[in-house]
Amino acid sequence: MLISGRGSNLQALVDAEARDELGGEIVVVISNKSEAFGLQRAKNAGIQTYVVSKRDYPIREEHDQRIVDILKDNQVDLVVLAGYMRVLTDVFISEFENRIINVHPALLPAFKGLDAQLQALDHGVRYSGCTTHFVNLEMDDGPIILQAVVPVQASDTGEVLADRILPEEHKILVDSVRLFCNGRLKVEGRKVLIREG
Ligand code: GRF
Repeated sequence: MLISGRGSNLQALVDAEARDELGGEIVVVISNKSEAFGLQRAKNAGIQTYVVSKRDYPIREEHDQRIVDILKDNQVDLVVLAGYMRVLTDVFISEFENRIINVHPALLPAFKGLDAQLQALDHGVRYSGCTTHFVNLEMDDGPIILQAVVPVQASDTGEVLADRILPEEHKILVDSVRLFCNGRLKVEGRKVLIREG
């Protein structure tokens, strides 16, 4: 799992694994920020952690190559971006084609990029939500796996809406990882087919 901050999505996966509901094992957590609280959550769960920072690897491709090396050393099958606030380069994506899942706090393809909850609010939508998708070279663009819809209230601030969306992120991310681990996801062009369980 790759993180940059708080790590509540990481925690949701850790908890699902503890309940035997993940279908896989979280083997390594990598953060680009040494102060990310998610690193502590990983350590508490006994998961090995690494920090790969921009300062140590200022060239984007070399940064990503370092991460790829760690993932390969650990024989990782699936990479989960859980609040990882960097766009991946081709060095990374070509190595893990259709094996990188991201969670985004809006109903893609609307409101890509940063502060998606605030973008949705400012746009005046009545419903927003969250999306899990496979990662391709475009930001927040790859084939969609799952989505959850969340209503927007007139009184919402970006923070209030983000708090309403977050538990849904946790659910669809856990569900998406489980579907992947159980071999039930198949990518066909832009679409993700979910096989019967
Ligand atoms: C989540 O809203 C995620 O969708 C976005 O960043 C936030 C990360 O939260 N990309 P956390 O670190 O998992 O708590």
